Amino acid sequence: MARAVLTVLVDNEPGEGLRGSWGLSILVEAGGRRVLFDADTEPDVLEFNAKRLGVDLGGVDFAVLSHPHSDHYGGFEFVGRVAPGLTVYVPRGSGRVARLLRGWGLKPVEVSEAARLGGGFATTGPLEGVYMGRGIPEQALVVILDGGEAAVLVGCSHPGVDNLVEAAVRAFGVKPVLVIGGFHGPSRETLDRLASLVDGRICAIHCSGEEAKRYVRERYPEKACDARTGSVIEL
Ligand SMILES: [Fe+2]
Ligand SMILES: [Fe+2]
Repeated sequence: MARAVLTVLVDNEPGEGLRGSWGLSILVEAGGRRVLFDADTEPDVLEFNAKRLGVDLGGVDFAVLSHPHSDHYGGFEFVGRVAPGLTVYVPRGSGRVARLLRGWGLKPVEVSEAARLGGGFATTGPLEGVYMGRGIPEQALVVILDGGEAAVLVGCSHPGVDNLVEAAVRAFGVKPVLVIGGFHGPSRETLDRLASLVDGRICAIHCSGEEAKRYVRERYPEKACDARTGSVIEL
């Protein structure tokens, strides 16, 4: 039996019979819990794909928002309809977006530091990133598996994907065997550093950019993983 199953509900790249949009949403099932990481941009796209993939978002235990950008929180409007009152862990400093989530019937809970969220799930807590010259807080979701291995899920990696993974290692002493999410056009240095931290798969999706995907594929073929909307990854 898989220790964890990740289903990419939405990515920029569409999957067969599924809709894509500029955004990210991943469902993680591990240790008997189901956790939603980010919720894409469009409620309709998230709803359509979830239905097609046979995922009932009304049954998730809690959700995590990586950072307050609309391509990660827009679809929470749909989540609020099917899972009213659901706890959504948001990085501290998400003020306006936390109010928006509340308006959609969800229960935002601010995270200010690395913390365990229950059932092997944990957050790095917010690291400070920069986007268009402005500071933005961003957290990564850590799924801790048996033997101290872990999957690290990132949203846009505005603080740097290497720094987010390093924060997971530092906070929980885990050995990352998978990192997945948007890497936001990282430098080669960042990707080299990331590869030194991850003993397993590197799935550059969402806002990573073709250049980063190509670099990982060519420089680290044994770690490169191909994922898009509808991909199911088992650990
Ligand atoms: Fe993004
Ligand atoms: Fe972003």
